[in-house]
Amino acid sequence: MASPDTMAGESEIVSTRKDQHLDVVAKKDVAFGGLALGFDRFTLEYDALPEIDLDEVDLGTTLLGKKLAAPLVIGAMTGGSPRAGRVNERLARVAAKVGVGLALGSQRAMIVDPSLASTFDVKVHAPDIPLVFGNVGAVQLNYGVDVEAVREAIARVSADALNVHLNPLQEAVQPEGDTRFGSLAPKIDQLARAIGVPVVVKECGAGLSRRTLRKLAPLAIAGVEVAGVGGTSWSKVESHRAPEGSAQQTIGMRLGGHGVPTVDATVLARDAMRERVVIASGGVRTGMDVAIALALGADAVALAAPLLIAAEESEAKAEAFLRTLVQELRVILFTCGLRNLVELSRATVIAASDDPLVTAREAHVAGRIQRGW
Ligand SMILES: Cc1cc2nc3c(=O)[nH]c(=O)nc-3n(C[C@H](O)[C@H](O)[C@H](O)COP(=O)(O)O)c2cc1C
Repeated sequence: MASPDTMAGESEIVSTRKDQHLDVVAKKDVAFGGLALGFDRFTLEYDALPEIDLDEVDLGTTLLGKKLAAPLVIGAMTGGSPRAGRVNERLARVAAKVGVGLALGSQRAMIVDPSLASTFDVKVHAPDIPLVFGNVGAVQLNYGVDVEAVREAIARVSADALNVHLNPLQEAVQPEGDTRFGSLAPKIDQLARAIGVPVVVKECGAGLSRRTLRKLAPLAIAGVEVAGVGGTSWSKVESHRAPEGSAQQTIGMRLGGHGVPTVDATVLARDAMRERVVIASGGVRTGMDVAIALALGADAVALAAPLLIAAEESEAKAEAFLRTLVQELRVILFTCGLRNLVELSRATVIAASDDPLVTAREAHVAGRIQRGW
């Protein structure tokens, strides 16, 4: 157990780091920039004679037992500093108004320093948020955070579910990173069995591979959020924070595309998780991205960086961003002749390109993707 002095120092480091993350994501290029393996390779089968009314389209869904107006979650981002608290407050009100889920950033800061708990307490600002995820880094289970500490942290903010994040790439590139990732699977399993809310394991932008999913499948988790390659790259974020000329700066940039693309991770996760929850995330930006992720098997979709950038400007911007996304999704279902998300999950996904990479992807989607029109 660390002394109160060391803990106060640690809490200051965590708070400062959280604010640096907000700055880097808002101001620097941290978007994945490798091969285009993203959603833009795909579209959905258009139907000029949909035989339904736009008003008939129902985007409602139930995720982890909670009713959402649309299958969307504001992805895990922040908390732990006054600025992060303001972002969470705005996002909380938006999530409640639009009727979507909200995930908190890592609650480590408030575990270390309970006086920071109010910066995570989103239900105070918006008691009607339909679904709130708490958040803890899996690796923290190797650094003295135990089930009791996590239980207290999620009870303090009345979270309905818990995200446990995996981020070995980020920690390895972060100058002060926690890199002891040994023997974590049994600890995640133990946490999931004891914690009393559904646990969704997530990556943070490098995705979940078949190899990872094979290790996650036997655990007592409610599902996964893939957070694949294609959106915010935490390798790049940490590279921007690393000292000029340092090895971390170089490595972080070079490994900015290391991991599993979001589309692939979504399809693999659906296979591995069977009836359990799969949330697609990592570079989801448009209504068509959302629709394709859902058609490929996701139960819901999470977006992080675009909502941070909008919320730092204003609550109204964040709300407009989300409402546009929901309306776009509605228009897509209408123009594909799909009444609801069950029909979308059976829709035909068209690979809009002849690129051989698409052909390779076709193989593992086992017939769900049709090549060309
Ligand atoms: C500013 C910021 C802070 C983040 N902090 C966390 C975190 O504390 N815990 C976590 O699980 N994921 C965190 N993430 C990762 C996101 O939840 C998400 O997995 C990743 O950014 C990819 O989604 P995107 O491309 O929509 O941004 C953070 C993302 C951003 C942009």
